[in-house]
Amino acid sequence: MTSSAVDTQEIFKQGIFKGKILLCSGGGTGICRDMTESIVRHGAKAVIVSRKIDKLQKAAEEMSKSAGGEVFAVQADVRKPEDVERAVAEAIKKFGRIDFLINGAAGNFLAPFEKLSYNAIKTVIEIDLLGTINLTKAVLPYLKASKGSIINVSMTLQYRGVPLQSHAGAAKAGIDALTRHWATEFGPSGIRVNGIAPGPIAATEGMKRLLSKQATPRTIPLQRFGELGDVSQSGVFLFSEAANYITGLTVVVDGGHWLTTSSSSYPDNLSKM
Ligand code: COA
Repeated sequence: MTSSAVDTQEIFKQGIFKGKILLCSGGGTGICRDMTESIVRHGAKAVIVSRKIDKLQKAAEEMSKSAGGEVFAVQADVRKPEDVERAVAEAIKKFGRIDFLINGAAGNFLAPFEKLSYNAIKTVIEIDLLGTINLTKAVLPYLKASKGSIINVSMTLQYRGVPLQSHAGAAKAGIDALTRHWATEFGPSGIRVNGIAPGPIAATEGMKRLLSKQATPRTIPLQRFGELGDVSQSGVFLFSEAANYITGLTVVVDGGHWLTTSSSSYPDNLSKM
């Protein structure tokens, strides 16, 4: 958790997730890593899943130390059903159950639609949207057994439309739809499904590579960029019993950014791209 965001341990009791097992795709870096760490600090054990095992293993070791819990790394490409099935089987072999699922794996880059290759569009949709579908399908039987909970990570750019991001926006809009569909379909099994749509969060890949330089804290109603902890505390809340009657909701954690900022993402050289 970063410096000035609120420590969830000051708000929620320490052991609220004791005995719970989290599986998080994209849990080795950025927002999902911080969410995983926060959930482990509250007593859960975690399995983080991503493509590059070296980086993932290092992240798992660091997180185990910093959060004082057990974090286990499993290599998998969420685009491949066979990888996902194997990762879930490894998680079950290690911990015996899965209570929480975070679908966070994402890939993105700024590019004009007419310059995107067919494969580029397919790649982003496969990682973000199909990856969410694949992992959820593989984890669902275990979530049914534990009456667990899902958080799908999306974005806000699809709410109004943003140039150079149609591939990612299409995928994220699909993820938001899945949050609502699954909430209705899995609710009778005792599974809650919610989403988190982060805005500009400082020190993340998305912020570095995707947000226009014109976006400043002054363009955001709350007058600051977000911090990792701002997102993590929403994750802890949504998995906690404080959110027991909340399902089908995507929580926007952006300081009000999307309400005021859309076309600010035009780059200076748009016409030449
Ligand atoms: N602009 C346009 N097209 C791009 C691109 C860019 N910046 N980056 C990748 N592509 C295209 C590739 O050219 C390729 O299409 P092609 O086969 O027609 O040439 C296609 O997307 C797949 O790219 P590739 O790098 O081969 O796929 P990958 O599966 O190894 O990785 C990403 C896909 C999205 C993860 C990778 O592009 C990447 O590393 N992105 C930046 C990191 C990131 O997304 N972080 C998380 C989100 S902020």
